Amino acid sequence: MTDKTAPIALEDRDRHGARLSSPSAARNRGPIMTALSARLPEGARVLEIASGTGEHALALVTHRPDLSWTPSDPDPQSRASADAWAEDAQGRMQPALDLDVCAQIWWKTVEPVDAMYCANMIHIAPWAAAQGLFAGAAQLLSQNGALHLYGPYQEGEATAPSNLAFDASLKQRDPRWGVRPLADVDALAGEHGFVRAERVDMPSNNLLLTFQRGVA
Ligand SMILES: C[S@@+](CC[C@H](N)C(=O)[O-])C[C@H]1O[C@@H](n2cnc3c(N)ncnc32)[C@H](O)[C@@H]1O
Repeated sequence: MTDKTAPIALEDRDRHGARLSSPSAARNRGPIMTALSARLPEGARVLEIASGTGEHALALVTHRPDLSWTPSDPDPQSRASADAWAEDAQGRMQPALDLDVCAQIWWKTVEPVDAMYCANMIHIAPWAAAQGLFAGAAQLLSQNGALHLYGPYQEGEATAPSNLAFDASLKQRDPRWGVRPLADVDALAGEHGFVRAERVDMPSNNLLLTFQRGVA
C-alpha cells in the first residue's frame, strides 16, 4: 500500500471547477496522442494507470472514437477531474477507478483489457509502483495486449543531462524516487513475462515504450 504519510506527487495544475489542467499534459498530449494512437488496436479497451487530470484520456478518445478508456488514479481530485473531462467524451471514458499500484493485488476488481497506458508515474513513486504496475499488467492484459509506458529514462552515458538533473531533484524530494534506468525497467518487464517491443523517442527526452508478452 502507498505510504499515506508521504504525499502523492502531483504535477502543477490549473483548476476550472473540477477540471484540472496540467501545463505539462498540454505540452505532451499531442505527441502522445499521435504515437500511442498508432499502437492501439481497433476497439481496444484501455486501462490508464496514474491518469492525473484525465487530459491524455480525453485527447485519445477524441482522436480515436473506437476506444473504450478507463482512467485511474489514487488521488481523489485527479479522479474527479478525469470524470469532469469525461463529460466531453460521449461515453467513451469510463468513470475513473481508485487504483494504487502499490496496493496488494490491486487488479483484483479490474476487468481484463487490451492495452494499458501509464505516463510519468514510475519515476515519481517508489520502485514498488513499477513492480506493481507490471504485476498487474501480467494479470489484466489479454494475450496480445501491450503495456505502454511514457516518461523519462536513464540510458547510461546516453542519458540526457536534463534527465540527470531531474533524477537528482527527484531524489532530493524523496530518495525512493528517480528517473529509472531503462535496463532496470526491461529487467522488471522480463520478470513478469514481458519484452520491450518498441522504444519511441518523444519530445523533451522522453520515451514511449511498448511491452508485450514474450514468447512462452
Ligand atoms: C506526475 S503525475 C502524471 C499524471 C499524468 N499521467 C500525466 O502524465 O500528465 C503522477 C501521477 O501518478 C499518480 N500516482 C502516484 N503514485 C501512484 C500509485 N502508487 N499508483 C497509481 N498512481 C500513482 C499520482 O496520483 C499522479 O496523478
